[in-house]
Amino acid sequence: MALVSAKEMLEKAHAGHYAVGQFNINNMEWTKAILLAAQEANSPVMLGVSEGAGKYMTGYKTVVAMVKEMIDYLGISVPVALHLDHGSFDGAKACIEAGFTSVMFDGSHYDIEENVAKSKEILALAHSKGISVECEVGGIGGEEDGVTSCGELADPQECAKIAGLGVDMLAAGIGNIHGKYPANWAGLDFDVLGKIQDATNGKPLVLHGGSGIPADQIAKAIDLGVSKINVNTECQLVFAEATRKYIEAGKDQEGKGYDPRKLLAPGTEAIKKIVIEKMEEFGSAGKA
Ligand code: 13P
Repeated sequence: MALVSAKEMLEKAHAGHYAVGQFNINNMEWTKAILLAAQEANSPVMLGVSEGAGKYMTGYKTVVAMVKEMIDYLGISVPVALHLDHGSFDGAKACIEAGFTSVMFDGSHYDIEENVAKSKEILALAHSKGISVECEVGGIGGEEDGVTSCGELADPQECAKIAGLGVDMLAAGIGNIHGKYPANWAGLDFDVLGKIQDATNGKPLVLHGGSGIPADQIAKAIDLGVSKINVNTECQLVFAEATRKYIEAGKDQEGKGYDPRKLLAPGTEAIKKIVIEKMEEFGSAGKA
């Protein structure tokens, strides 16, 4: 199946009270593992690409070509959206040009008027090409590709302003943090989440920092209108752990265990496994 916009899969998820996972990709192994997981779980999926990962993979056009050809080669038939994660204004425009089917414009560090003006421009451009758009209000805590913010809670009125522009999905800070959650983390703020959902008239909401959030909080967030959950760190952790175990067991020194196709296999399998688990937890498994 060709790459699709995220609009329809998120509307279905919102109506059906489940969430679609956005799993960030970093290279070929990551992409292959996530696509195979989605196919096996019969789940829609969003592949997230940060600007840093885009550079690492030698540019957005390379990413588009790799993902398209991989979908074809592997016979992936579930809906897949290729999505820019935390895009700048110029980054979003570049991905719209390069063939992404979904973009996030993260204007949360601008004041609300500037965020509105820039979001509007990206929305017009993307929607004219059938590309879905995520915008953000209020910072998400933690650090990602050098972008930092500290677990802000978004203002529901500001959310209403951005949602009213016609965004397909809205990211709003509700106490979530990128990366590992600190031991003293207060948890998601469901009061704010409920207010945001009311103020935005049921817009599909996005939960960033999906790694390490307890299952009961995930379930409650979905109940209150979260239709997309971003996971990156957990895939990185399981990949690193499986690779470390392989090397510590000396397997890279047995036969041709140093062959990258062998060396990277346990990590790739570990990503596939955790992605399937997340799809089951988020309720998107079986919904393709
Ligand atoms: P984690 O790395 O905490 O899973 O967050 C991912 C994310 O929100 C990407 O935008």
